[in-house]
Amino acid sequence: MCGIAGYIGPKNAAQVLIVALERLKYRGYDSAGLVVSEGGKLHLRRAAGKLKELDAKLAAQPLSGHCGIAHTRWATHGPPVEHNSHPHLSADGRIAVVHNGIIENHVALRRELEGEGVVFASQTDTEVVPHLLAKYYDGKDPVAALRTVLARLEGSFALGVVFADRSDRILVAREGSPLLIGRGREPKAARTDDRRSTEGGTPWTERELLVASDIPALLPHASEFLTLEDGQIADLGPHGVRITTFAGDKVEARFRPIEVTAEAVSKGSFDSFMAKEIAEQPSVLTRLIDSRLRGGVLVEPDLGLDLASLRHIVFLACGTSWHAALLGKRFLEALARVHVEVDISSEYRYRNPVAGGDTLVVTISQSGETADTLAGLRLAKSKFLPVVGLVNTVTSTIAREANGVMPLLAGPEIGVASTKAYTAQVMALYLFAAQVAKAKGLLPRDAEEALVAAARALPDLAERTLKLCEPAVEECADLYSAAQASVFLGRGGEHPTALEGALKLKEIAYVHAVGYPAGEFKHGPIALVTKHLPVVCMCPRDAMYEKMLSNIQEVKARAGRIISVGDAADRDLRDLSDHLLPVGRAGDELLQPILSILPLQRYAYHVARRRDCDVDQPRNLAKSVTVE
Ligand code: M6R
Repeated sequence: MCGIAGYIGPKNAAQVLIVALERLKYRGYDSAGLVVSEGGKLHLRRAAGKLKELDAKLAAQPLSGHCGIAHTRWATHGPPVEHNSHPHLSADGRIAVVHNGIIENHVALRRELEGEGVVFASQTDTEVVPHLLAKYYDGKDPVAALRTVLARLEGSFALGVVFADRSDRILVAREGSPLLIGRGREPKAARTDDRRSTEGGTPWTERELLVASDIPALLPHASEFLTLEDGQIADLGPHGVRITTFAGDKVEARFRPIEVTAEAVSKGSFDSFMAKEIAEQPSVLTRLIDSRLRGGVLVEPDLGLDLASLRHIVFLACGTSWHAALLGKRFLEALARVHVEVDISSEYRYRNPVAGGDTLVVTISQSGETADTLAGLRLAKSKFLPVVGLVNTVTSTIAREANGVMPLLAGPEIGVASTKAYTAQVMALYLFAAQVAKAKGLLPRDAEEALVAAARALPDLAERTLKLCEPAVEECADLYSAAQASVFLGRGGEHPTALEGALKLKEIAYVHAVGYPAGEFKHGPIALVTKHLPVVCMCPRDAMYEKMLSNIQEVKARAGRIISVGDAADRDLRDLSDHLLPVGRAGDELLQPILSILPLQRYAYHVARRRDCDVDQPRNLAKSVTVE
């Protein structure tokens, strides 16, 4: 959690950094701050609450200066108040640090420093770092001081450091938390007017340099980036970027072009990223499907695996990605007859899972940075199991550490609620199952043609469903936005949809919601039903249709308010329900959950709006959960 950023270059650092924080706030947004090194001093601005509080502070007390670091926080150690916000300063105010991750041995380090007379200003784990740096910095070699401090830290971190006496240097280090370095375009001519380095008064002639936890925050100033690896330090300044390992060995700085556009990380004409990302789903699905086909036929993913010999797969994921994994299991069982287990990453990593040499582990993660899923990946690799990452962010740690990568191609997902990444994950898993089935000889030509046709028809159906369901969704949101709780029921492939619909409502509208397998509801939870309880029933015309109708009858008999999701022309379902949220019908029943989730995403969005919730930044959450 937390996002960090840094800038050195000819522009006003504070202004660049506030935009970078805006793009990182999905990683945490309970407080924010930045520091600029100028004129031999560090100039600090911090504020509790959303980024607009920091923005207001900066407007009231603007900063000049061309070198700074910034942070947006998701509190772990200490509540989200100003004195716990980053950057944190050494006691003499000469060194400032921003940090993403957790310093696990901070208590022992704090005791040691307090014993030496250091007075702490915050309750954070991070604050030990600037104090340690002050202890080891001799005023000559900041990298050597950082290296000494790093040797004393346990835990995970991405650190950014600036010094009062080095106002054109940023040091960064990484161990376990993401950190990217961006570089601007080659300047047309050496600049002598904009700024001068305080070190020797030499003019700034290098390209501007940026640091961030994620690519969107490097835009629009950077045109190239590199990923700092675990165990590396980078020294950024007029000399460019010097990378060394914690042990001091030199590493070549290899930049590559940034392919994400600034447009992809803006809301455009939408009122929120969530609304934009929901609307993008048809085009995301089209791009994804096209990427898995050549000349209309499925191509095998380039994973370095023999798909034909796959016998056993373990899916590891959290949250929404775990719901997609539940559907992945159904697809692989149905199409490729492969035995699949689905594990929540935070459970898997603390078990001692039994795994044979023929097991493939697939880690599913939008961000590719989820700490528990990453830990699961590392555990699997330590058992010599091959690991594939199904990820959206291809520059992420999971993508880099997995043996093979299946990209989602959904574009940056910024709203905390996962929407387009979910439907892309489901489609990607369907196509992967089909690829495995084909490799095993279980997908005859005509079946492949039918499957590809069903997949290709889905983006249009999704587009139509989003339009078709909207009036009924809004009507239900008007009627039920004040309800205290909701239940979501589904069977078969619609059980994960029910779980996902409930998660969306919980996380962005703060309504207590649970998803159940509809057949299980009568074993206790049906006691919850009253005339005040909205029960959302997933009832497309699939193999479980008749069973689901019976389950709806059971709820109706107890006066529950029934909101069904199903076929617009289904008279029986309409008669049985208080409301019907109409959805299109997929050519392959396995794909129906991609359509069924759409009205539930919009329902959560509308309920959240009516309850005055911030849909992109729900309370207590962060987009990437990079702590346990
Ligand atoms: O980036 P990941 O897919 O690994 O994230 C997993 C979960 O944290 C994530 O899906 C979370 O549940 C979302 N906020 C759900 O909308």
